[in-house]
Amino acid sequence: MSEWTRGEIEVVEAAIEAAPSVHDTRPWTLQFHDAHGVSLFERWDRALPRHDPLGRDRLISCGAALENLLLAMRVLGWDPEVALSAAGADPDEVARIGVRGRREPSDVDVERYTAVSRRHSHRRPFAAARVAPAARHELVTASNTSGVEVRAVDGDDEIAVLAKVLSHAALALRMDRAYQRELSAWTAPRPGAAGVAEAPRRLATLPWAGLVRRSTAVPDVPTLARRLHRECLLLVETPDDGPLDHVRAGMAAQSTWLAATAAGLVGSMLTQPLQVREVRAGLIEGLALPGFPQALLRFGHPITDVATRDDSEEESS
Ligand SMILES: Cc1cc2nc3c(=O)[nH]c(=O)nc-3n(C[C@H](O)[C@H](O)[C@H](O)COP(=O)(O)O)c2cc1C
Repeated sequence: MSEWTRGEIEVVEAAIEAAPSVHDTRPWTLQFHDAHGVSLFERWDRALPRHDPLGRDRLISCGAALENLLLAMRVLGWDPEVALSAAGADPDEVARIGVRGRREPSDVDVERYTAVSRRHSHRRPFAAARVAPAARHELVTASNTSGVEVRAVDGDDEIAVLAKVLSHAALALRMDRAYQRELSAWTAPRPGAAGVAEAPRRLATLPWAGLVRRSTAVPDVPTLARRLHRECLLLVETPDDGPLDHVRAGMAAQSTWLAATAAGLVGSMLTQPLQVREVRAGLIEGLALPGFPQALLRFGHPITDVATRDDSEEESS
């Protein structure tokens, strides 16, 4: 098998850099091997002890990066083969990728790859038009990552459960000083460094604030439920809650997000509320989940310039 070219390495590295990650920590590093092999390692120096004491979000982030990496390799004409490392020689190695040979990328690969650089976290309201049920179904089935279920959160009862737990998590996290200190450290403006920008003050309210800070407004539960009703909400779920589940959840979340981007939708991923223990339990019980919730995805249509005024009027309703 031939060796990596400089150009191929650049394509793979750019795809990885464009992946979403918890607090934009980018907790991964790559090692390229002979014969088009590559390993993805997690970076413990990017740990978030308050937000993510178990490293769950770090591995979900690595899973999202892995999905981008595989997509880039397929678009380069390679047929990658992945071994997720449960207990490899190096405990930091998340995945080792080899190639079976050359293969033409599929149309879906090309479509999703072109979405890699367009995908961004959308922390603001969506346009008033809702995502159609058929389009939502496409998203629910967009990922074929084994061992991961992507399911819609829909209907009055489910939205009520979600609004209740999101509100509870927000109130708990807003009060947690050590948590907020860590969040601020990662979100303070540092040119050129990893980090995540704060939502504009007007939008610093749930659900569109994305990350709850000290100053985030928490609407009452019925208001939050009314806002959530307008969104396409998907829950990424795994049968177990171990490291491999987290990596796979990240892969599935990212392929779903790329499918949504390719379909012209915008969205964001939330795990912050799931870090509050009783929120996970509340979701498992309230939604009768057979597995463990790993991430919530919110999608909608972007607000176009023409629609901006009307939609922002509706926002405040
Ligand atoms: C595991 C994981 C958890 C995340 N949790 C949240 C969250 O709770 N709220 C949020 O607004 N964004 C969340 N994000 C999005 C990241 O903040 C975002 O990907 C990162 O800042 C990079 O920005 P981008 O998505 O625009 O490229 C999460 C991303 C990942 C991968």
